[in-house]
Amino acid sequence: MNPKRIVIAGGSGFIGSALAREFSRRGYAVVVLTRSPRGRQDGVSEVAWDGRTIDVWAEQLDGAEAVINLTGKNINCPHTPKNLLALTASRVDSVNAIAAAIANCKTPPNVWIQASAIGFYGDTGDKLCTESEPNGVGALAEICGAWEAAFSSAAVPKTRKVTLRVGFVLGRDGGALPVLSRLTRFYLGGEAGNGRQYISWIHLADLVRMFVATSEQSRFFGVFNAVAPDAMTNAEFMGELRKILHRPWSPPVPELAIRLGSRLMGSEATLVLMSSCCTPERFLASEFKFQFPNLKTALNDLCRKNQ
Ligand SMILES: NC(=O)c1ccc[n+]([C@@H]2O[C@H](COP(=O)([O-])OP(=O)(O)OC[C@H]3O[C@@H](n4cnc5c(N)ncnc54)[C@H](OP(=O)(O)O)[C@@H]3O)[C@@H](O)[C@H]2O)c1
Repeated sequence: MNPKRIVIAGGSGFIGSALAREFSRRGYAVVVLTRSPRGRQDGVSEVAWDGRTIDVWAEQLDGAEAVINLTGKNINCPHTPKNLLALTASRVDSVNAIAAAIANCKTPPNVWIQASAIGFYGDTGDKLCTESEPNGVGALAEICGAWEAAFSSAAVPKTRKVTLRVGFVLGRDGGALPVLSRLTRFYLGGEAGNGRQYISWIHLADLVRMFVATSEQSRFFGVFNAVAPDAMTNAEFMGELRKILHRPWSPPVPELAIRLGSRLMGSEATLVLMSSCCTPERFLASEFKFQFPNLKTALNDLCRKNQ
């Protein structure tokens, strides 16, 4: 019997590479939709697409077990009006293209797992957000609102739909943690701004397990916060990271320095200064078992080799 096929759109990046590895390990045939096929040697197939228009790539979805869509221009860029449009378009266009491809399938995929982000809630302050909290305000909330609206309006009646509102993903080889660790080693790991803004983080290994669980178990449908049940303030987060990297103290980094630094580094200060306080209420209710439910064990696991 042929192995079940998983199609990962935008699967060449930080999260997609980890998913491709895990689904391959579990015996699936993994197909990555990418704008730049590289000719990889790890058994994962690559198929070219532009993230916008239907082409031969769409055949990959016919008879597939699952499609996972991670496509989107990276949010770590200055949030200028031009970039905000590109951030939204890359997400919405890919959702619409996949919806059109599924509509043409003789045998549509059993499940479509769509990435979103906890930026959906906007700046949460101290308020702990469950999945039932409405769409917030601000640029990130608007991007996520448009992204999820496109997914909700996709008419794919034979395909189970799951949205994962992903938090701040902690991994060894990608995302923001390696940068934060480097800064911390240089005694630049102080709390950011007033340090009271929340970080709702998740260990990459648990995020991968969430994708596996939601693809393989039909009891999962609808929207899920993909975060650990241990949201922390920025001050607590940075304190824990400093402890693990043996830098007991670093000077706090004032908001102005973050704004200037972000501009110099081609990043966006909001990503550091905005509060995201979320709980994975629906994963907890479904008795999903977190391997890394608290920050200390997650950072110990991820920073161990880098010390
Ligand atoms: N990492 C996090 O902490 C985090 C947190 C919350 C939400 N998310 C969301 O989860 C998804 C995956 O995150 P990630 O960290 O794996 O991102 P990533 O490493 O930047 O990968 C995203 C992929 O999207 C494709 N892409 C980028 N710009 C595109 C464009 N303009 N048009 C079409 N495709 C484009 C790229 O694939 P090709 O170049 O191969 O086409 C890229 O590999 C993203 O949608 C992100 O917003 C991530």
